[in-house]
Amino acid sequence: MLDMRNTNNLPSSERESERKDDCNRDCAEMKYLPSFGRKRARGLSETQKNNLVHLYKTYGIEISEKKVSLETLFNTSFEKIFVEVGFGHGEHLIQNAIQNPKIGFIGCEPFENGVAATLKEIQVNNLQNVRIYKGDARLLLEKFPKGTIDRVYVLFPDPWHKKRHHKRRILSAEFIDNLRKNRTKELVVATDCKEYMESVLENLRQLKIPAPNDIETLSQKPDWFLSTRYEQKALSKGSKCYYLKIDLR
Ligand SMILES: C[S@@+](CC[C@H](N)C(=O)[O-])C[C@H]1O[C@@H](n2cnc3c(N)ncnc32)[C@H](O)[C@@H]1O
Repeated sequence: MLDMRNTNNLPSSERESERKDDCNRDCAEMKYLPSFGRKRARGLSETQKNNLVHLYKTYGIEISEKKVSLETLFNTSFEKIFVEVGFGHGEHLIQNAIQNPKIGFIGCEPFENGVAATLKEIQVNNLQNVRIYKGDARLLLEKFPKGTIDRVYVLFPDPWHKKRHHKRRILSAEFIDNLRKNRTKELVVATDCKEYMESVLENLRQLKIPAPNDIETLSQKPDWFLSTRYEQKALSKGSKCYYLKIDLR
C-alpha cells in the first residue's frame, strides 16, 4: 500500500521502525475486506505526525501473534473493559473515558487524522484509562482472551449503501458471532441508516440472539447514549437515528 505520509522530519531509525510497523499492519489487514474508507486525509500536520509516533508509543497498542493481555496494556486493573470500533475523531470515546474512570477503554480506528486528534485529547485530559489501536478493530478483537471485553460499541459505522458493497459492512453475522464466541457481553450499535440497522437485526435473528422486532422502537434516543460527531451530523440534517444495545450472552 502506498504511504503518502511525509516522515522526513523523524530520525532515520524511527522512520525505519514506522515503515516496518505500517508494513506489518497493512499485511495483517489484508485478512479482512476493508470496512473503512480512507486511512488518512491529505495534509497531516507535523504535530499530528509527531502525535502518531510519540503519543502512540505511550497510549497505542501494537499487536503480534500473541494474545493481548490487559495487564501489559494498562498499569492498573479496571472494573470493566469497553471497546469502541471506529471512534472517528474520538469525541464519544474521550467523553466516555472521562465520565467512567473505573472502566478501561480501548478505541480502534484506522483513520490516522482521527487517531492523532484522539491521542492528543488523551494526553490533554491525562486519561489513564484509554488505549488506542490504529488499525482494523477485527485484528485486535481476535487477540483478546475469551471473556475480556464487557462491551463493544460500533457507532455510525460506514454504511456502504450500495448493495454490492454490503459485504464491507463491519456488522456482519460473522463479526457478531465472533464477539459472542469471544464471550463479549454487550454490543451497542447506532446508525442513521435504517436498512443497515435492519440488516443487523436480521443477523442477530439468524444467530438466534433475541432482537427487537419493531425497528421504530429503536429511534428513541436512550438517555445513556453519549453523542458522536456523525450522530450530530445526521440529526442536523433531520435524519432519524437508531440505537441498539444487545446482550450477547
Ligand atoms: C462514519 S465514521 C463514524 C465515526 C464515529 N463513530 C462517529 O459516530 O462520529 C465510521 C468510522 O469507522 C471506522 N472504521 C470502519 N471500519 C473499521 C474497522 N474495521 N476497525 C476500526 N474502525 C473502523 C472508519 O475509519 C470511520 O472513521
